[in-house]
Order: sequence, then structure tokens, then C-alpha cells
Amino acid sequence: MANIRKQNAVATEPSEAQIAVHWREEEYYYPSARFVGQANLTDPTIMERFREENFPECFREYADMLDWDQYWHTTLDTSDPPFWKWFVGGKINACYNCVDRHLDKYKNKAAIIFVPEPEQEAPVALTYRELYVRVNALAALLRDFAALKTGDRVTIHMPMVPELPITMLACARLGIIHSVVFGGFSGEACGRRAADSGSRVLITMDGYFRNGKMIDHKASAEIALNVAKQEGQTVDKVLIWRRHAGKYASASPMVKGRDYFVDEVLQKYSGEVVDPVSMDAEAPLFLMYTSGTTGKPKGCQHRTGGYLAYVTGTSKYIQDIHPEDVYWCMADIGWITGHSYIVYGPLALAATSVIYEGVPTYPDAGRPWRIAERLDVNIFHTSPTAIRMLRKAGADEPKKYHYHFKHMTTVGEPIEPEVWRWYHETVGKREAVIVDTWWQTENGGFLCSTKPGLDPMKPGSAGPGMPGIYPFILDEEGHEVEAGSGKAGNICIRNPWPGIIQTVWGDRERFVNQYYRKYCKNPNSKDWHDWPYFAADGAVLASDGYFRILGRVDDVINVAGHRLGTKEIESACLTVPEVAEAAVVPVVDEVKGRVPEVYVSLQPGLEPSQEVHDKVLKAIETMIGKIARPKKIHIVPDMPKTRSGKLMRRVLAAISNNLHTGDISTLANPDVVDKVREMVQGKEPVAVKEGPEDVKRFGTVD
Ligand code: PRX
Repeated sequence: MANIRKQNAVATEPSEAQIAVHWREEEYYYPSARFVGQANLTDPTIMERFREENFPECFREYADMLDWDQYWHTTLDTSDPPFWKWFVGGKINACYNCVDRHLDKYKNKAAIIFVPEPEQEAPVALTYRELYVRVNALAALLRDFAALKTGDRVTIHMPMVPELPITMLACARLGIIHSVVFGGFSGEACGRRAADSGSRVLITMDGYFRNGKMIDHKASAEIALNVAKQEGQTVDKVLIWRRHAGKYASASPMVKGRDYFVDEVLQKYSGEVVDPVSMDAEAPLFLMYTSGTTGKPKGCQHRTGGYLAYVTGTSKYIQDIHPEDVYWCMADIGWITGHSYIVYGPLALAATSVIYEGVPTYPDAGRPWRIAERLDVNIFHTSPTAIRMLRKAGADEPKKYHYHFKHMTTVGEPIEPEVWRWYHETVGKREAVIVDTWWQTENGGFLCSTKPGLDPMKPGSAGPGMPGIYPFILDEEGHEVEAGSGKAGNICIRNPWPGIIQTVWGDRERFVNQYYRKYCKNPNSKDWHDWPYFAADGAVLASDGYFRILGRVDDVINVAGHRLGTKEIESACLTVPEVAEAAVVPVVDEVKGRVPEVYVSLQPGLEPSQEVHDKVLKAIETMIGKIARPKKIHIVPDMPKTRSGKLMRRVLAAISNNLHTGDISTLANPDVVDKVREMVQGKEPVAVKEGPEDVKRFGTVD
């Protein structure tokens, strides 16, 4: 033990060599001839077509999958870097492309199949015609009753029900910018986002089923409105969908003149048809708030034409969606995955998209496979956390059901090779091809993935850059890290692409600073080559050109595939009056990948107590939501700090994960480290073990 302490005391900052990654090279898996025989993308010249010499015009191939009201004159405009503009001069409507244009051929085909969580409630199919009717009626309501117009923002705080995509599409029909807040986020989190986006209208729902219980969701609208008001934004209309039309499931009172039941108001608009508004390709389609390195969530602003082209192209080539497929992405529409790959991409291709209301393991771990069997789902899409959870709860369950997936996706976090293999063998029955898609809220669609009919799969690796995406790895000094060197670095994208966000809503500077400042070669240059995109993920590039993503290198924690900013959680802790300082770090979790662990120190003279512990927990749950619930809350005597007063989250992350703390001799208070370690690990320090790169590097990259 003395040894370990000594080691800790003399160890230095992790060097590039130390963060080099050692893992066994995995063997390739090949798609079946049956899959390849029907795949959308089997032409190997795709990479030729999308190579750098053909950039940016190569992206016409995606944009040409859409119906344009007016063709664009400039594919990529780089006059205001890094605010790239795509398909400039083009006019298009996203709702038209996802609904109207399919009516001739597919009006009677299911667009959406809704699977309620209670198993005795039968699935409900909405045809493209029915979707058209409902979207039109709601668009009329939004325009004529809620007085919303093109360019206005609307916050939507809803669970996984078909009314959510109906609402998004009705907004898109009118050019209203929707800002969907994940239903599991608290009222406060929703209110802050509503305020930032300047929403005057909130669209919500009375309640929904989760884990066998009806959740009272409308209650959080009250909180959201109060918080928005405190931040200077008045929301004067609340439109409330009811889970069962005509029956109000919330205990929260309706406020006269402000709150309206959508099903009641809609009666007046039934049968109305609203012309889709022809939008500039560069008009914003939606905002999606995500966590960054500051406490304030950023509103990722996605454009209409480029975004829709990118998600449609990638849905066709990488998701292999054909109109006759039954496609199920078991994610939440409240995250970017749901926007791109439950709603916009699949519907633009006239697929049938499945929406499941509830928890994958409700009432048992066989549920997803029963749904797949009943609906004859043939494309399945989910996250490593869900896969780990289903494997843990019922590793043999998939074998009991007669479904056949041709294609499966994993997204959102690194997947361990052994989990990948269970997904392949047991869930996919060795029939399904798998794509491990790496991307981010800011990216609109996939950045790295294998092409399912063309490339072999490698467990644990996302694969090469997508067609037209040229990723590379840079070290901290901006030198390119060579393929096959085994060294980790920061994955960046050399070039712009149509799915990238336009900006951070209302904060151009934050957009530049976050993604482009770090590696910009010349801030005055109008040449995109000088503006690589910094993704804030660590990665390793193998000699075969496959990228293995290691996780975030900034202060963002990826919990169950969902991004949480440490600063957001810390700000919540600091609302407890007894708390003087707070630090949040990621700990490795068998199922969720990473979960936050909280350290707080108290105001002078105060003693740790269960009461403070509970207050901190409550603050986090009310300000952000249960998703941010920490694994543990440690009340410590002091925080390890540098002499300049910087809180050393890296040291705390090392303690929480039983890793070397690195060089602590330069700290202002090195003795605190031992005290904290003893509190967390007990008198006998736990043996130091190898840790994953994101945890080892946590807080070391600015
Ligand atoms: O760390 C990466 C991880 O998820 C982060 C992006 O999170 P978010 O914006 O919420 O979007 C999630 C879904 C697109 C990334 O910075 N991540 C995403 N996909 C993968 C991944 N890590 C490893 N492998 C992936 N396939």
C-alpha cells in the first residue's frame, strides 16, 4: 500500500505514450450475401464519388433524394467561415418531403406504428394519409389558434407518442423552429431551454406510461413556465396533448386562457389543409439543446436543406432503409438520434417507423423481441446501454422469439467487443449486419460507420469516415497522429458537411470557440481546409482506416449514451445553500457506461449530514432530471486544487475509478487527496487498475 501511495506521489501527467491504447485487434465479420443482395449501397465507387476532389458537389447525391421547390445555385458557400452554408438558393419543405410526397405511392402504408407501454394496449398504425391529415390539422391549429408563424420557436416537452412527430412535422410544415426537450428532463431544464430559445408556446402532454406507471407530465409545465419567466421569457400558451383523448391524466390544474387540450381545440381544425411553406435551404429547421463545457446548454441550430439531405442519404445508405422496411429505432425522439433516425430520415424515405412508449425491460427483458416479432421489424437501432441492460436482464430472451433483423445499429457510446458479439450472435441471430455509428448532436447524422453492404464489421470500432467525411486524429499540438500508431488523439473532421449545425442559437462565438478555435490554422482564411472541426472525442485510428472512439475529452459525461455537462450538475449542487464547492466526475458503470459521481465541500463550520446529501440529490433531480442522478455523493473536507485555485476534477475521477492520481505534488493541498481517497475507498486503498481513456484524461483537455 505504501508503494501505491508512493507511486501516486511520483507519477507525472499522462503522456501521449501512456494514453496509447492497447487492445486486441478484433477480427472482421462480413455481411451475409443475403443482406448484400438487397442492400441500397453496394457500388464500391461510392468512395470515389465522395472523395475530396469531388467535394462539395458529391453531396448533390443526397440532396437529389429530396423534392425541392427550387433547385440551389451554390452547393457550399464558405464566405463566412466557419458558418458554412449548404445548397444556397434552394427552397424546400421538410414536412412535404416526409409526408406529402409519399401519398401517391404509399398513402395506405404505415408511416408510424405506435407501441404503447402497457402490453394489453394494441399497437396503433398511422398510414401516410392519416399522418398527412393529422399534421395538417395541427398545422392549422398552430397557425390560427396559437398564432405561430414561420421563424417562431416552440418548445415541445413530450414523451414517446406519435403526437410528438406529428407536432414536429406540423411545425416544419409552417417553418416554425421546433425545440424538443427530452421528456425525461425536469420542468426546470425545460424552462431554461424554453427561455433560451425565446418560445412563447409550450407543447406538452398530460401523462405517459413508464415502467408500469402513469407519469404526471403536465406538472412539469408549471415549473417550466415559472423558470422561463424568471429568465425573462413569458410562455403564454400551453398546448396539452392527452394520452387518452377526452381524459385528463394529470393532477395539475388547467389555467384558463393559457392551457388548452389539443384534442379539444383540434376539433375545429379537423380536415383543414395547410400549404407547406417553401423554406430557404438555410432556414433553421429545429434546435436541439445539448450539454457542453459550460453550465448553459447550447441550442444546436440545424438547417433545413442540408440536414434533411444528410439524414436522408445516410438513412438510405447506412441504415439501408427501403420503403417496405419496418424500422425500429429504440431511442427517444427527444435526442438527436430520434430526430434524425426515427423521424426525419426514415419518413423522408417512406419507411414504417416504430415508436415505443416505454422502458425496454418492461414488463420483462423479452419485450423488445416480442415487439419485433409482432411487428415483423427488420431494422433495429439502439444504444450500447440498452444492449448491456437487455443482456444482463435476459441474455437468452431473444432466442425465444421469431423475428429477423437484416440490419442493426449501435450508437451513442463505445461498445465493448464482447457486448457487440452478444448483439451480433444473440440479438441479430448472426443474420443481421451491424453498423456502429459515431456522431454527435451537432453533426446531424453519422460521421463514422462501416457501409453495411460494402465494409466488414470490426467489433468495438465505428469504422471509416462516412462518404464525404474526412476524419483525422490530431494531437494536442495539432500534429496528425498516424494510422496504426496505436496512439490516441482528438478526432477531427477536415471538411464541412451538410448535416453540421449552422451555429449555437444566439451565440456565434460559442460555436466558433467550441468546435473550430482549437485547430483553426488561419482565422482570416475563407478556405475550409483551414477550419477542421474539433469533436471533443478521443479516438485511435487503426492501419485499416477504422476509427475506434474512446469517449469525451472535455467536461461532458456520456451517461447511457446521453450527454450531461459536469458544470450543469455542479451548478445544481451549488443551489444548495450549505454547499461551498462542487465537482462532478464520471465513474465507469457496467450497464450505463459512465455515471456521474458528485463531490461537494460545505460552507465553513458545517458538518456533513444525510440532510445535505439528500438536498444535493433533490437539487440535481429537479434542476436536470433523474437521468443525472449520481451514483454517489461524497461530502469532503476540501477539494484538491492547483495553486491557481483550479479544481482538479481529474484527481477526483481517478479516486472514484481507482486509478493513479498522477502528479499531485504541484497541488495547493496535496494532503487532501489522501483524505478524500480514504473517504471514498476506505482505509486500505483499492489496488490501482487500468482505466478507460476518457476517465484517465478527464479534465485534462481544454
Ligand atoms: O462521445 C461520443 C459519443 O456520444 C457523444 C455525442 O453525444 P450526443 O451529442 O448526445 O449524440 C449521441 C448520438 C449521436 C460523442 O461525442 N458517441 C456517439 N456515438 C458513438 C459514441 N462513442 C463511441 N461510439 C459511438 N458509435
